[in-house]
Amino acid sequence: MSETTATATTGATIELENLTKRYPGNPQPAVDNVSMEIGAGETVVFVGPSGCGKSTTLKMINRLIEPTGGRIRIGGEDVTDIDPVKLRRKIGYAIQSSGLFPHLTVAQNIALVPRMTGWSKARTRDRVEEMLDLVGLDPGEFRHRYPRQLSGGQQQRVGVARALAADPPVLLMDEPFGAVDPITRDHLQDELIRLQHELHKTIVFVTHDFDEAIKLGDRIAVLRERSHIAQFDTPEAILTNPADDFVSGFVGAGAALKRLNLTRVRDVGITDYPTVTVDDPLQHIFDRLRASGSNEILLLDRRGRPYKWLRRGDLMRAKGSLARAGTPVHDTVTRDATLRDALEAVLTDNAGRVAVTGRRGAYEGVVDMETLMNSVHEMLEADRLDALAHQHDLEEARAERTRAEQEGRGGEPAP
Ligand SMILES: Nc1ncnc2c1ncn2[C@@H]1O[C@H](COP(=O)(O)OP(=O)(O)OP(=O)(O)O)[C@@H](O)[C@H]1O
Ligand SMILES: [Mg+2]
Repeated sequence: MSETTATATTGATIELENLTKRYPGNPQPAVDNVSMEIGAGETVVFVGPSGCGKSTTLKMINRLIEPTGGRIRIGGEDVTDIDPVKLRRKIGYAIQSSGLFPHLTVAQNIALVPRMTGWSKARTRDRVEEMLDLVGLDPGEFRHRYPRQLSGGQQQRVGVARALAADPPVLLMDEPFGAVDPITRDHLQDELIRLQHELHKTIVFVTHDFDEAIKLGDRIAVLRERSHIAQFDTPEAILTNPADDFVSGFVGAGAALKRLNLTRVRDVGITDYPTVTVDDPLQHIFDRLRASGSNEILLLDRRGRPYKWLRRGDLMRAKGSLARAGTPVHDTVTRDATLRDALEAVLTDNAGRVAVTGRRGAYEGVVDMETLMNSVHEMLEADRLDALAHQHDLEEARAERTRAEQEGRGGEPAP
């Protein structure tokens, strides 16, 4: 592993204070007095309707757009007035359709900022390799290609590699996956989550896809016109306790279903199921079935992978051979699957359960409809209680502040 990884820069805080942008010729500001604090290593997603000022707000953070008013602090340093070119070298930036330079190769595109920052040729070359590896592209195959020789998804990966190349603490992403098909987008999102697990950058991500926001954001800022913050909270809180009708409208229908995307199979109880393997004699299978008190047993192949569901009746009809008995297992999930995936699998299985597999597809247990339903119920109930507690805390804090203010005023000597 190269030296750059060992010392990878982790995220820095971002503070926006009364940030405002007025474009010439328009009396209404495009962004009006936005204040927010983003924690180091946090992923914050801006969502909101078209034209509400998401891109303008984002671009003020690296001063691609100069604010008309307000301050920006990164890692505690006021960067509102420093040289914007220097600032931008410390901030990765990725946009829709990758924004790669068409006349530069993949390697040259990724090398751009490191070279500008004065990295040596050798260090830059190593870094390019490392970045291509990081985003899942084989350096040998892709280094010398031009952007037009890549698929849309590959271009986006190179865009992300370029944004990360100079190892910036902050990464700004403006609808980076907006132009690819849903399946590729899903993959790119998964990869970004994996990268972020490794890198702990501070990421500000713009999208108008609320599902994308739920998937990627530690917190989501729902913005309305002029970038006014309608709600800034965790995905759970926004789904279960939207601040107002505007936010509800944005969350869209099926908030409870969306909540399923936030929970993994590993978070719910998976149950044991009676199993036998293809090498077991028929008599043993009968005995196991009887002992388990169940009407059905899961047959595993020689590597311990789910193979067939066998019912009592299947065995009766098997006449000594299992070759044609039972129902093949057509779908499994891993512990990392979302509850939504698990539910999908359970709903399309007419017996209402799905096998959970681990390393190399080996059987680990089963999730069934009942477990899923109970978990979902508990989860929604817990969310509701959290939301109530949060509300209560806020009210307490507000009351506390009012008390303090009143005492402060009372104690002040007359001028
Ligand atoms: N260079 C500009 N000059 C004048 N007005 C602009 C300029 N750029 C953006 N605007 C206006 O500022 C407002 C906010 O634009 P912005 O690009 O930030 O929106 P957005 O939320 O990113 O929208 P979208 O989801 O469509 O990308 C819009 O009303 C837009 O018309
Ligand atoms: Mg935009």
